[in-house]
Amino acid sequence: MTAPQGQRIAVLKERATGETRVSATPETVKKLIALGARVAVESGAGIAASISDEDYRAAGAEVGLADAVLAGADIVLGVQGPDPAQLGAAKPGAWVVATLDPFGQGPAGGRARVDAYAAAGIEALAMEFMPRITRAQSMDVLSSQSNLAGYKAVIAAADIYGRAFPMMMTAAGTISAAKCFVMGVGVAGLQAIATARRLGAQVSATDVRSATKEQILSLGAKPIFVENVAGIEGEGSGGYATEMSEEYQKAQAELVSSHIAKQDIVITTALIPGRPAPRLITQAQIATMKAGSVIFDLAAPQGGNVEGSIADEVVEKHGVKIIGYANTPAHLPADASALYARNLLNFLSAFWDKEAGKPVLDEEIGDAIRLTRGGAVVNARLL
Ligand code: NAI
Repeated sequence: MTAPQGQRIAVLKERATGETRVSATPETVKKLIALGARVAVESGAGIAASISDEDYRAAGAEVGLADAVLAGADIVLGVQGPDPAQLGAAKPGAWVVATLDPFGQGPAGGRARVDAYAAAGIEALAMEFMPRITRAQSMDVLSSQSNLAGYKAVIAAADIYGRAFPMMMTAAGTISAAKCFVMGVGVAGLQAIATARRLGAQVSATDVRSATKEQILSLGAKPIFVENVAGIEGEGSGGYATEMSEEYQKAQAELVSSHIAKQDIVITTALIPGRPAPRLITQAQIATMKAGSVIFDLAAPQGGNVEGSIADEVVEKHGVKIIGYANTPAHLPADASALYARNLLNFLSAFWDKEAGKPVLDEEIGDAIRLTRGGAVVNARLL
């Protein structure tokens, strides 16, 4: 008997502190097997996302310890990048498909880890570098995770806010609706607006990209925009913002100062790819807010939009609670894993070459996401 052929896909248990997600679910395991792959899952990989070893076995996966799962792997899936030292048992040239945070500053991320993948002969594919083109939308992990993060930010803020969100008329008197301001209207911001609206808040929102004005209005919220200095016309390059001029930053600070004093809840989501998060709220502005107000800083892990915010801590300044999670999607492990795992499945199956029996990337997406190959760092953004 010959051993079964086909790509061997390893799914590892995440090792980063606070990471609850998993990169494959029983649903995606079944579909990977249907493509002709063999799937091995590290025991306990899905526990924090409410998926048992038995669920993976029932889907057709082999379940075992990390070394056994990695032995002879062609493709290693992860949410965050696995420790390069772990990957010795994988095949030479094996793919690592995960979010690899090559610009990260943490001990486990950053450029040093990318260099280590190169040295280990791994072909590292950074899913967060997926180009924002129509055909790659279903593979876009930033979108799937940001959407959930935007929802969770509002829920977390509502949870520690000492008042209710909706207007309530009761026999004991009327409670007025909370005023919620969303700063940064990308994927997370749009979901934050929708969630705050569903909870009954009066919502306003701002962004530097002019295309978001229509989107804010269509969700029933009020756009608050800098009018006297030009922002970014339309969507911005690849849908992304860039750092704004000093003149714009000054005009934005004035606008925020006058608006923020009247808000109960502020959700900040502003990011610039490869750069620290822009500072949108200062201590002086926080001091003008009402006691009991809540700010959720979704950018806290990237340095924060809010002065003084600390990831995973509740900081109280001038009676205002400032919160932010180091890893917001990890607070919704089951849904975040389900969507992330589908992003990876959509990616692998879109490129699956039936004749070769393995995925083969095209130039556009391959060049965008491939960080290392043949022992070297090859991505233009890292050279
Ligand atoms: P992001 O996470 O990089 O940034 C969040 C938001 O912060 C953005 O809207 C950005 O314009 C805003 N921002 C940056 N600096 C700011 C400042 N100083 N003040 C106020 N706001 C600031 O962006 P995200 O959520 O990843 O998506 C951005 C855009 O990309 C969206 O328009 C989205 O529709 C588009 N997109 C397109 C996709 C596709 O076609 N495949 C997939 C996903 C998103």
